[in-house]
Amino acid sequence: MKNRHDFILLVNRLIFIAVLYFLTSCASPVREIELSELDLSVFSSSWGETKANLSISGKPLSIAGKTYEKGVGMHAAGEAHVCLDGRKGQFTACVGIDDNTKENASVIFYVFTNKGVAFKSAIMHKGDAPQSVEVDLKGVTDMYLVVDPTADGNGYDHANWVDAKFTVQMPPVAVRDEPEERYILTPPPSAAPRINGSKITGASVGKPFMFTIAATGERPLTFTAKNLPEGLTLNPETGIITGICNKNGTYSIPLTAANCAGICRDTLEIVIGGGLALTPHIGWNSWYIYQLGITQEIMEKSAQAMYDKGLINFGYTYVNIDDGWEIKVNSNDEIVGGSVRNPDGTIRTNRNFPDMKRMTEFIHSLGLKAGLYSSPGRSTCGGYAGSFGHEAQDIQSYVDWGFDFLKYDWCSYGNEAKSNELDELQKPYLLISKLISEAPRDIVLNMCQYGMGEVWKWGKKAGGNSWRTTGDLGWNTQNLSNSMFDIGFFQEKIREYSGPDGWNDPDYLLFGNIYDWANQKITPSPYSPSEHYTCMTLWCMMSAPLIFSGEIITLDDFTKNILCNAEVIDIDQDKLGKPGYSIFNKDFIEIWKKELHNGNTAIAIFNRRPMKAKVDVDWKTLGYDNGHYNVRDLWRQKDLGKISDVVSFDIPRHGCVMLKIEH
Ligand code: GLA
Repeated sequence: MKNRHDFILLVNRLIFIAVLYFLTSCASPVREIELSELDLSVFSSSWGETKANLSISGKPLSIAGKTYEKGVGMHAAGEAHVCLDGRKGQFTACVGIDDNTKENASVIFYVFTNKGVAFKSAIMHKGDAPQSVEVDLKGVTDMYLVVDPTADGNGYDHANWVDAKFTVQMPPVAVRDEPEERYILTPPPSAAPRINGSKITGASVGKPFMFTIAATGERPLTFTAKNLPEGLTLNPETGIITGICNKNGTYSIPLTAANCAGICRDTLEIVIGGGLALTPHIGWNSWYIYQLGITQEIMEKSAQAMYDKGLINFGYTYVNIDDGWEIKVNSNDEIVGGSVRNPDGTIRTNRNFPDMKRMTEFIHSLGLKAGLYSSPGRSTCGGYAGSFGHEAQDIQSYVDWGFDFLKYDWCSYGNEAKSNELDELQKPYLLISKLISEAPRDIVLNMCQYGMGEVWKWGKKAGGNSWRTTGDLGWNTQNLSNSMFDIGFFQEKIREYSGPDGWNDPDYLLFGNIYDWANQKITPSPYSPSEHYTCMTLWCMMSAPLIFSGEIITLDDFTKNILCNAEVIDIDQDKLGKPGYSIFNKDFIEIWKKELHNGNTAIAIFNRRPMKAKVDVDWKTLGYDNGHYNVRDLWRQKDLGKISDVVSFDIPRHGCVMLKIEH
């Protein structure tokens, strides 16, 4: 303050503002505004569209036998952001599950405000008496109504806010949140070499072996691998180890990668006769970007891009065709139609795939592996030829062509199965895995049957190396984030069934450009930047396969940095192969811990709230003694120092922090 005069001016100004505020407060009368009068098009529901004065299924709102005229029908997971002016007022409502839904519905209702958690219901089921909500709006500028599907998933979660109204002076406004700006946390790889990706690899005795040592660092790099078992050799310039090993065993191979900036040493375990997928698969699949329009040319370009853009240096290995390479059943189309098999019964490719063998040879020449797709039914989900009745011939074709991976998708097999009993669910997978094990080539088997019969409990016995645990993650790009949260966090409940050589598969990484099925066009991933970090963190914490399914040819810097953080990938590919588990879960803040092979642990803190959160982590209550361990921020690749009693993290909406605790 320069002088007394300025001070008096400031005081006068403050008095003026206070009087104006008081007068306008008196001037605008208090009114009641129904929640259903707001713009519901900005509310999100993970199924259907949020409805005014009706339930999500379009019927009158009804809870525990009583119908209500006014209110809003949502579906969990659902969310709405309402802006207010911070003046005195109230929000009141009753919440409950709609009567016109199934018994397995269960939801928690929340109200968050800029001041914290303002309301949380019990877990509510169909028939439960409604719970009343009363929120004092003084000081509230942002309010979020949230319906959480709870741990059992979001099936039939029809959630009603009835008699829901604001008693306020200024009408509240429902808003769509401004899109978050992209932010890159991953630092660029250094010039010095670093060996990345899986440090354990498996193959069968007497079958072709290939492993590429993934390494970042300035090119040219020179590789060495000591004590390779007989039959295997290393190309020192490419880092590709190939050959055939005729003796079962576990071989410990000291590796080096060197360039003018330094040398990196590590150890690779080669396990012969102990499984094919000792760490989760990592690579790319064509489905979510090219759908049924996939071609050999695109596959080759995508493999080349995986190499040129350096994903291979972080361990990305598989280049997998999804549905659409076969002949379309009952079609005369010039490109994809015709007879589905040759006179001898062998499968034909459509004209988009003129030469499968040439394609896999090209993929292998880059140090990558090739995958393809089929169904045990007569046709695939896309209506192309399946393997039913020709299983042995098809495996022989895949071997002749040189494929390393098969996604085997249930699809129309429902028409062949006699029932939904376990033996019928298992039958096609037992058959195909037996044929694979007898074949002269290793083929990793990914079972795609959407979690039927709790596949995680028997997928490994049926010969799978991984199995999809749920339906598709991304049919509905509008609700992709909700779907990612639902499916992602659900995996924790079935973590004990996932591990080396048999992984739970929650579907693909939908980053970069993907295909929007509803609008039939290519669109950037609808995940917010923070949701990208959360998805990649979750998938790594749960040891899920890391299969990117966006467009690799047009990979942008942000997406590449999400996919290619070597320290984050190390958590996924850790050779202990033990999925993480939740150690704290309260009011949409969730903390996961994952044990690593060398005694270290990874910690992920997720903010599932609809707004940013300051999370105070008390290390002691998480089971860490004070001050003994070094904490490293994995996304930023930065040491945070020794841990102290409580550390605070500011975490953006739907974002996370991923740490390694070095013991
Ligand atoms: C199913 C699978 C998807 C994809 C399509 C192909 O929906 O779950 O991952 O393979 O079939 O038609």
